[in-house]
Amino acid sequence: MAYYFNDKFSVLKKIVVQKTTILITDENVHKAHAAKFKGWDTIVLKPGEAFKNQQTVDEVIVELIKRGVDRSYTLVGIGGGVITDLTGYIASIYMRGIRFGFVPTTVLGLVDASIGGKNGVDLGVYKNMVGVIRQPAFLLHDLSFLSSLSEKEWINGFAEIIKHAAIKDAALFKDLSNHNLAYYLKNKSALSKLIERNALIKTRVVQKDELEKGDRKLLNFGHTLGHAIENIYDLSHGQAISIGMTYAAELSEKLVGYKEKDKLISLLQQYGLPTYAKMDVDKAFDILVKDKKKASGDIHYILLQKTGKGVLYKISLKKLKPLLKSVIE
Ligand SMILES: NC(=O)c1ccc[n+]([C@@H]2O[C@H](COP(=O)([O-])OP(=O)(O)OC[C@H]3O[C@@H](n4cnc5c(N)ncnc54)[C@H](O)[C@@H]3O)[C@@H](O)[C@H]2O)c1
Ligand SMILES: [Zn+2]
Repeated sequence: MAYYFNDKFSVLKKIVVQKTTILITDENVHKAHAAKFKGWDTIVLKPGEAFKNQQTVDEVIVELIKRGVDRSYTLVGIGGGVITDLTGYIASIYMRGIRFGFVPTTVLGLVDASIGGKNGVDLGVYKNMVGVIRQPAFLLHDLSFLSSLSEKEWINGFAEIIKHAAIKDAALFKDLSNHNLAYYLKNKSALSKLIERNALIKTRVVQKDELEKGDRKLLNFGHTLGHAIENIYDLSHGQAISIGMTYAAELSEKLVGYKEKDKLISLLQQYGLPTYAKMDVDKAFDILVKDKKKASGDIHYILLQKTGKGVLYKISLKKLKPLLKSVIE
């Protein structure tokens, strides 16, 4: 797979053959960057997670057939994680698989969703229940897309960046502590280095463990509880995993002697993310159990041994519940 970091959208013409390429994007991205799409055959979808489903997949496939797309074509997803997940999935199943690449346009997309080859859609309340693992042919970063991104989406992406630092990169954690969002918004070269560094952290983890047998699980730091509360409380993904990381840090202190809990919590706050939050632990736990598709037995909870070193901690669901209660309530 080829990476084009900190590049220009216009190089896409050199990466693909324009007349056998279809761009897939959403209305928000298309509207904010209309000039970039000139001359490209483009499918524009409605934005949002609610459209990351099989119905959208079918509609796009009908459109591809109408436009005479055959196996020689390339699909390029230009958007956030919803668009790249959809594009990768559609390209993987259309005619049993055609070439695809991504131009991620959210911070979360740049450092997380576009990397790793997991592409899929939701089925009702079941997020990412249907999908494939297939790597894109290329990733092209043009950070000028970020000029239109809302503050909420910036913060969402930084939750994953802080996650990467916490589990894998103590030096990055320090850099982040010394700055804030306003700094990265102003300083383009610092931002592009940050994005590249994070894209590479995820890439390395995935390369070592594509099928998520070990190390890749570390990327779920903050996500076990985070996913459970994301829907009950109508939180953004970044907010939910930030609360998840906060309580995972509390558990880390209790279970594996993590000593820098307070540093992690202040870093999350520094980037506008919530930390301690009241919640209905029984309800959250019920969803967590459903999410893991297990009623009993062991799960892997991701903890921090120290900053920059995430570990898999095997724990029974029976033991986990009272422990969560003890740190949350
Ligand atoms: N495949 C994976 O490994 C993986 C990993 C993490 C997340 N994801 C998926 O990614 C999705 C979340 O990604 P996301 O946060 O990027 O969501 P998203 O694609 O919904 O984008 C968030 C919002 O920002 C808008 N937007 C995107 N780029 C913009 C730009 N440059 N300017 C203005 N607005 C813009 C979108 O229209 C949308 O309203 C979820 O569906 C999640 O499941 C996948
Ligand atoms: Zn996440």
